[in-house]
Amino acid sequence: MKNFITFEGGECSGKTTIIGEISKLFDEMKIKYITTREPGGIKIAEKIRSIILDVDNKEMTSETEALLYAAARMQHLSEKVIPMCNQGYVVLCDRFLDSSIAYQGFARGLGVDKVLNINSFALEYLPDLTIFIDVKPEIALKRLTLRDKTDRLDLETIDFHKKVYQGYKEAVKLYPNRIKVVNGNQSLENVISDCKKIILDYLR
Ligand code: TMP
Repeated sequence: MKNFITFEGGECSGKTTIIGEISKLFDEMKIKYITTREPGGIKIAEKIRSIILDVDNKEMTSETEALLYAAARMQHLSEKVIPMCNQGYVVLCDRFLDSSIAYQGFARGLGVDKVLNINSFALEYLPDLTIFIDVKPEIALKRLTLRDKTDRLDLETIDFHKKVYQGYKEAVKLYPNRIKVVNGNQSLENVISDCKKIILDYLR
């Protein structure tokens, strides 16, 4: 695929702000783009998102959770990401497959192979570039407690978020060419400028 760029990182890694800043840059440079997110981005996937993240759904098994993310992903790819890429837009997507590797594969303990297996349709459309915002889980969780929004995954323990972090590190090892690591422990200004540089270098 062409120009499919994803952003990855644990909770409160600043992805949303960073995507906003890249959007402003693209507006100035008159680059055609869209922003979207996973799980979500389109009606069906947003509905799946609300089921997954509903704090009342305590009975949900890790397997079901992983399958729902994979289902939302495939619909989002078919309905939005692939058509927009084909029309020449840069697609800036908040999370994608690497989130499933980190959260379901590692933190939930399903293992990478199983996660890749149930995402086999999506594997045909891997991003061209992925930016992983590398924030230490302790720092991210401090930020999380300052935020008012809470969903089912936010309620997990520090151990869970440490495993997510470890999972991302493994994803980077698995896809070293596609995933670029940005130090997210520095000031947000510097994080944004590192991201801009990587993306502009890639598009050049
Ligand atoms: P967000 O808060 O960045 O919008 O992401 C929603 C939550 O979903 C977040 O806790 C990470 C989680 N998630 C997974 O566990 N697996 C996935 O494949 C994706 C895309 C998100």
